[in-house]
Amino acid sequence: MYRLIYKSQPTTSLNWEKVREILVQSEQNNEAQGITGVLLATEHSFLQVIEGKYETVNKLFMKIVSDSRHSNIQLISFDLIDSRLFSGWGMKGLGLFDFNTEEARMLKKKYGEDNNDIHFPLESWQVLSLINDLKMVRGLPEWRH
Ligand SMILES: Cc1cc2nc3c(=O)[nH]c(=O)nc-3n(C[C@H](O)[C@H](O)[C@H](O)COP(=O)(O)O)c2cc1C
Repeated sequence: MYRLIYKSQPTTSLNWEKVREILVQSEQNNEAQGITGVLLATEHSFLQVIEGKYETVNKLFMKIVSDSRHSNIQLISFDLIDSRLFSGWGMKGLGLFDFNTEEARMLKKKYGEDNNDIHFPLESWQVLSLINDLKMVRGLPEWRH
């Protein structure tokens, strides 16, 4: 089992509708392929974690890289893992738009800020820590299944 993490920039500024389109497209494909993961989005960045078999993750990443909806793809990690962190999530989307709560301020302080958005880290342990923090933030209106 492998886990791949990358960060990219959307070619047009993002909103939840655009993220939702990707998720609808992804969920069925991913479930059929045994892929799990999470897609984080701010107005100016994507960050995605993809888990599955080596070949499957590789092929999906190649497809995603050539998608014109984003560019400047930065591979953060591609690691052999013992078990999934996101089992049951065909692809969970987390949109961090208009995210101006006390929690958002705390997370921006911890992870840094990019154009008013939370800065998505370039180290895998920080990415996993950010996702964990986001999971713990209750009452987040943009938290979607
Ligand atoms: C940021 C981003 C993340 C994506 N994640 C996935 C994904 O997890 N699974 C997936 O099947 N497609 C994903 N896609 C869409 C693929 O690039 C592609 O458009 C889609 O899989 C349809 O391909 P098909 O027509 O070959 O089925 C993503 C696209 C973007 C821009």
